Amino acid sequence: MAESPRSPEFLTRRGVVAAAGGAGLAAVLTACGGSGSSSDDSASDTASAGAGSGGSSAPSDTSTGTQSPSGSGGSGGTPLGKTSDVPVGGGKIYDAQKVVVTQPTAGTFKCFSAVCTHQGCTVAQVSGGVIHCPCHGSGFHIADGSVANGPATAPLPAKQVTVSGGEITLA
Ligand code: FES
Repeated sequence: MAESPRSPEFLTRRGVVAAAGGAGLAAVLTACGGSGSSSDDSASDTASAGAGSGGSSAPSDTSTGTQSPSGSGGSGGTPLGKTSDVPVGGGKIYDAQKVVVTQPTAGTFKCFSAVCTHQGCTVAQVSGGVIHCPCHGSGFHIADGSVANGPATAPLPAKQVTVSGGEITLA
């Protein structure tokens, strides 16, 4: 019986305080949104930005990777292998470089793209003076890359090689 009057009074106070706080917030929000001339706000923003300059972890650690691994000097060419690897009247396919080196006659070396002009397969075999594509059976003459038999209709593009000291180098 004696506690009952307190509760409503207490609740009423809380209600008043809450209402006042809500009204204050509403007023502030309205002021900020309505009038654009809020010089006080910009000042406070600057101050807070200065105070919050704790971000000293800038990505300034660029000391790694300054040495570019350009080991292959510009002396020109990609070494392919020895001339002894290329049989006379035949050829050798260098898969990594996508080229085929042929030796139509002793001491004469030719180089062609190893990518078939039909549909882009890599030629796989050299025999009988012909570079063979395994996909659809096209063949190309080892002397000039011209079509020996289809379905390809265009020759293998020629590539430049140099021969020095028994070594073949792709230009
Ligand atoms: Fe070579 Fe078709 S891709 S014959």
